[in-house]
Amino acid sequence: MCGIIGITSNENVSADIIGALRKLEYRGYDSAGIAIHESNKIFQRKVKGKLDNLVKSLELEKSEGKTGIGHTRWATHGKPSERNAHPHSSPYVSLVHNGIIENVSDLKNLAELEEYSFESETDSEVITALLSHYRKEGYAHIDCVKETISKLVGSYALAIIFSDQKESIFGAKNGSPLVAGINNSGTSLGSDSIALSSVAEKVCYLEDGDIVVCNKNILEIFNIAGEKVEREFVDIGFDETDISKGNFQHFMEKEIHEHPQAVGETFKQFIDHDKGLITVSDFELDFTSFSRIHLIACGTAYYSCLVAKYYFEEYARIPVDCDMASEYRYRNPVLDKNALCIFVSQSGETADTKAALDYSKSLGIKTLSIVNVKNSSIARESDLCMYTKAGAEIGVASTKAFTAQLSVLLSMAIHLGTINKTLSENQNKEICHEIMKAPTLLEEAIKRSYSLKETAQSIINAKGVMYLGRGTSFPLALEGALKFKEISYIHAEGYPAGEMKHGPLALIEKDLPVVCIVPPGELFHKTVSNIQEVIARGGKILMITDDDTLQSGSENIWQVFRLPKSPKSIETIIYSVPIHMLAYYTAVELGNDVDQPRNLAKSVTVE
Ligand code: G6P
Repeated sequence: MCGIIGITSNENVSADIIGALRKLEYRGYDSAGIAIHESNKIFQRKVKGKLDNLVKSLELEKSEGKTGIGHTRWATHGKPSERNAHPHSSPYVSLVHNGIIENVSDLKNLAELEEYSFESETDSEVITALLSHYRKEGYAHIDCVKETISKLVGSYALAIIFSDQKESIFGAKNGSPLVAGINNSGTSLGSDSIALSSVAEKVCYLEDGDIVVCNKNILEIFNIAGEKVEREFVDIGFDETDISKGNFQHFMEKEIHEHPQAVGETFKQFIDHDKGLITVSDFELDFTSFSRIHLIACGTAYYSCLVAKYYFEEYARIPVDCDMASEYRYRNPVLDKNALCIFVSQSGETADTKAALDYSKSLGIKTLSIVNVKNSSIARESDLCMYTKAGAEIGVASTKAFTAQLSVLLSMAIHLGTINKTLSENQNKEICHEIMKAPTLLEEAIKRSYSLKETAQSIINAKGVMYLGRGTSFPLALEGALKFKEISYIHAEGYPAGEMKHGPLALIEKDLPVVCIVPPGELFHKTVSNIQEVIARGGKILMITDDDTLQSGSENIWQVFRLPKSPKSIETIIYSVPIHMLAYYTAVELGNDVDQPRNLAKSVTVE
């Protein structure tokens, strides 16, 4: 979703701004722009489409300025176009904005803005109008920012340059993420620390209400009351190799290959090697006091919650409710004071998840987050935070973060079960032993999944694809369908295999591809029966199972894909690999933009 950047330096900033915007591309965008202070004017370029278009336009006319701002826009108010792209400028000011202003029509009716002529359809331009009004009235630059934000309702991260203040960038934040950076040659602002990795050595995660003034040699932060505040700057903690594709064609491909590492590193946090047990005991939380768990998230993270419901109920016998964050706080949920609300998020910035967290906190419920991006808003604002150790995830379609989320949630369920005595210490030890095999099994699953490239070639012309499973393979079917549709643009639907005859069986027609996730176990034969029902109606089955299941039952099946035999406890983690690979290969085969699928964003910072 929109990314903002601001850099002030001893050197020309144009290339650095473009470099930082490239690092924000992963969030998803549909237009881009830049504004740079030059000796007698603000140089501005805006384009529809990808950053390459902006780079081309900068080749025609270079900018030499040392202070500037940049933006990648994901359209909310107003279609993607050059006119709606940021920066939004007036003779007084240029501004980039991430977030949504909710009281635009009220603001546009203010007498102060009567004479302002709006050029775009965006909500953001009203901020330019307010800033211009106050500057024209003679307010000091920082007071223009203070007055303006006091009028805004909604979310914003802003980077602002004033025409008559050539060496400063002003920033402000409420709801949307904003990070300030410093190094020897200057200071910077960005939507995340990845964006600042080549222009900052240390970063500070700004708080709601903060106003920041960036100058070459000094960066000052003021709180909502206008008082100067000291905030902690930490090492940026990103290495360029973390955020490069390495030898892979796409980030998504690289990230699928990082499942073993993501899962291994995440589990490592919870393995007590001396005792051979899974334990999250370092964690200052009395799990015995909770009567119920609420798991809340969006997208792929929500599917990890659906899998975890099975984990918690099976191993710890504790009731679990799962909610999509966008629904949760509007359905007036019945929450017990002794409940624990767990928020799962890769980015730690998803607006709906954050809003659900705020809502739970306001009701006095204990909150815990499971987050991948360190120091992100959700990580900072929840009572307690546990990290997935997936490393930077750049592909819009989440992959390794999903298996890392399952690793944390499984470890918690095992730990809780051991405390609740619904799981014996020996069972815990056994599962701990199984968990340690996960990285090797994932490596093998990846190798075997290369064969799915051919399978993908034969489904690219399909009208749609169904994904079926029972037990934890049902939420995995949902995840498979989500991944498939978001990058192939082919409709896909995940369904519990046993529910097919209550409706979706009507969709089955000759040669419709149906991916069935069928690990061995008590549900195997029941799912095979459901498969036969699909085959009888002409469906083309891709059965995902393991080396151990019977060859019988596979008659008339189009393709059987076999994984190495995996322990039940980590089965869903291992089965995620072919699910992600099939979507990936299909999208590549179709020539789609795998890492930045159309209309989608990685970090969804608006509700
Ligand atoms: C977006 C991304 C998905 C992600 C979801 C939740 O839709 O494209 O990949 O699963 O947001 O994001 P979060 O960062 O909260 O896990």
